[in-house]
Amino acid sequence: MKSKIYSYGRQNITWNDIIEVVKTLRSPYLTQGPKIAEFEKTIADYVGAKYCVAVANGTAALHLCTLALELKKGDEGITTPNTFLASANCLQYVGATAKFADINAKDACIDVKEIEKHITDKTKCLIPVHFAGISCDMEKISKLAKKHNLFVIEDAAHAIGSDYRNEKIGSCAYSDMTIFSFHPVKTITTAEGGAITTNSKELYEKLLYLRSHGIDKRTPDSWIYEMNHLGFNYRITDMQAALGISQLKRIETFKDKRREIFKAYQDAFADDERFSTLVEPTYSKACFHLCPLLINFKKVKISKDELFKALKDKGLFLQVHYIPVHTQPYYKKLGFKQGDFPKAEAYYEKALSLPIYPDLKTKDIETIVKIIKETAI
Ligand SMILES: Cc1ncc(COP(=O)(O)O)c(C=O)c1O
Repeated sequence: MKSKIYSYGRQNITWNDIIEVVKTLRSPYLTQGPKIAEFEKTIADYVGAKYCVAVANGTAALHLCTLALELKKGDEGITTPNTFLASANCLQYVGATAKFADINAKDACIDVKEIEKHITDKTKCLIPVHFAGISCDMEKISKLAKKHNLFVIEDAAHAIGSDYRNEKIGSCAYSDMTIFSFHPVKTITTAEGGAITTNSKELYEKLLYLRSHGIDKRTPDSWIYEMNHLGFNYRITDMQAALGISQLKRIETFKDKRREIFKAYQDAFADDERFSTLVEPTYSKACFHLCPLLINFKKVKISKDELFKALKDKGLFLQVHYIPVHTQPYYKKLGFKQGDFPKAEAYYEKALSLPIYPDLKTKDIETIVKIIKETAI
């Protein structure tokens, strides 16, 4: 019998989601309509921020943040090497330079003590990433940012639904802006999609016009509009916003389920010297986007590459989060090299992301654990 296929992430779509999208398709507005403002208000209310701007994807959200902060050539920003490319690329897009600070081995998020080592006169912003949905230590990051007069952009592409010290990530209590991604592997999806939250009216207004070609003035009852800045078309559609509103209604259920799955894996792989999992700090209550399994390849004969392929043959389509960004050829050309961030590199050697999504049943988790334990030998 052919075994079931499991990927590391998968969207959850209900009939209600579909009905909401179809209703919007039959409405007068497919884009630039009322569903977008409704989605933005739903997100802002949920996370406890004053403003929200919904956009085409998480990468566009990050780009708009660096544009809104007016970062430019000569400026530097610091992020983690254990992230998706976009967290660093958004600095490069505006001519600024991406720098990195190594991670904590326990939770794989940026290590605040490491950040300070990389702050220079050119540093203008910090981009902490709430890896796997686990919150970074935002109080410390914000303190450091204030000390050095830096902006903070939280990359919460993984972390909608997560809490830091009983406050929702996205509230921007410790940052200037927070970005989310709604790609299908993320906790809630709009297919492609993203959002930025902020408590700054000034940044909010900038984000609005930068999202739409830089047009910042329209004359009521006239065709006249005015572009004073260079912007983009980073808009999201009303169908996507309708899907997002519908998805967000289930976020707390998704969170409970994701935490339950994470705990089930933690228990299943505990007390086996071949494996370990991330340790969530007490200040974080993650809506886990990922569940990385760390494999001690010194204790097994199989290599990571062989294991990855063998698991695929058995129906486990896993992923690796992440190849450290500084080791990508583009960043190597800018001067980074293997060995620059040893903890992120050591983490990458061990990590494989396990399937984690609300539709997984206890039986599925048992099957997945059994296959891994039998294969990683
Ligand atoms: C940490 C992080 N930041 C940013 C992004 C970019 O989001 P998107 O794929 O929606 O452009 C991703 C996407 O996976 C991500 O994982």
